[in-house]
Amino acid sequence: MAKVIVVYESKYGNTKLVAETIVEGMREVEGIETVLSELKEVDLNKIPDYDVILIGSPNHFGGPTRGVKKFIDKLGKLTLKGKLFAVFDTYLGKDFEKAVNKMEKRINEKVPGLKQMAPGLSIKVQGIKGPILEAELPKCKEFGNKIATQIKT
Ligand SMILES: Cc1cc2nc3c(=O)[nH]c(=O)nc-3n(C[C@H](O)[C@H](O)[C@H](O)COP(=O)(O)O)c2cc1C
Repeated sequence: MAKVIVVYESKYGNTKLVAETIVEGMREVEGIETVLSELKEVDLNKIPDYDVILIGSPNHFGGPTRGVKKFIDKLGKLTLKGKLFAVFDTYLGKDFEKAVNKMEKRINEKVPGLKQMAPGLSIKVQGIKGPILEAELPKCKEFGNKIATQIKT
């Protein structure tokens, strides 16, 4: 059975909700084991047990959080060749650079064995503390569903 880990950081809970909704979408597809984990609880040594790694971050100053950047750098020290990844973020304004783009670039540079399986998902919040625009949540479910379907085929 394919195993997926969804790792996220979230200051106010919005990126957490995105992560949970992605997992909901993934669990609609049978035959995939999905684990949801807050970044600070992740055991780095267990990461190689997964086939797919999803990473989510709030946009902080036009990029991912420091914690997510450090996590990506640590992934570079593991053997993850042939495994897949996708990223997601939450953001407030469209004038900033997207955190997903920065995450993808950093992963490609620091973890070359890991291959991107889908374009990053960016979800808009209404204020620094949220909430997520209602029209955005179905996109999270769809993202999870699409990824899970892709893993199976
Ligand atoms: C320190 C800080 C910096 C931020 N910088 C940006 C930014 O550059 N661009 C943006 O669109 N949103 C920015 N935001 C808004 C966050 O994206 C928003 O708070 C986040 O999506 C909420 O997610 P969370 O509930 O998971 O923490 C910033 C928020 C904080 C707290």
